[in-house]
Amino acid sequence: MRVACKTAYEILTIVSEFVEPGISTFELDRIAAFEASKRKAKCAFKGYHGYPSSLCCSPNSQVVHGLPTKDALKSGDILSLDFGVFIDDFYGDAAVTVPVGHVSSAAERLMSVTKQSLHAGIEKAVPGNRLGDISFAVQSFVEGYGYSVVRDFVGHGIGRNLHEDPQIPNYGSPGKGLKLKAGMVFAIEPMINEKSHEVIVLDDHWTVVTSDGGLSAHFEHTVAITDKGPEILTHI
Ligand code: MF3
Ligand code: CO
Repeated sequence: MRVACKTAYEILTIVSEFVEPGISTFELDRIAAFEASKRKAKCAFKGYHGYPSSLCCSPNSQVVHGLPTKDALKSGDILSLDFGVFIDDFYGDAAVTVPVGHVSSAAERLMSVTKQSLHAGIEKAVPGNRLGDISFAVQSFVEGYGYSVVRDFVGHGIGRNLHEDPQIPNYGSPGKGLKLKAGMVFAIEPMINEKSHEVIVLDDHWTVVTSDGGLSAHFEHTVAITDKGPEILTHI
């Protein structure tokens, strides 16, 4: 899993560095697929339940599972990029939200709080804690800034399958739920909306958008629970 996760994050980082006004998410998807093929990594999302692309690209009010398009990104957009690979029987999964050119301070703040909420959740991924400790840490952090946590999509266990039990909601109660043990590996992935938590799936059956048109940000790491604490597997 360390190999798959490191590879996924390396490719996600390379793709992020290409993000600038004028480039399209279609081009970013091609870069991700090319970088994966160079590393003999299989793109985990392509063909998953019929998902047509390698990379999920969700700009602005898109929350997750956005489909790459040939439209040029423009300065002021924010873009959530989600990428996973499969190598030697194991999956790795990660996401980041990045600015395109110069973005508003409101957008900067949403991205920053979402990223920090992921780390607040990761800190609770230690043996003896409960699943609800992770969920509550994310939720309380985010709501402290007036943002809302998407309910309809959640994090997940990950390993020999992209999505395994348990589900990892980004909302919940401390001390509740599954007891965490060393050896478990979770994809923790807060999806945070500027305004209402409500989302809609578009007619393409994939693209998830905020119901009120507000911005949304998404950060994800694959994290192993170890006796020495949380180990973020998706890193450079
Ligand atoms: N990273 C997404 C997740 O964690 C995976 C996208 S699902 C796909 O669930 F179907 F789009 F591949
Ligand atoms: Co995931």
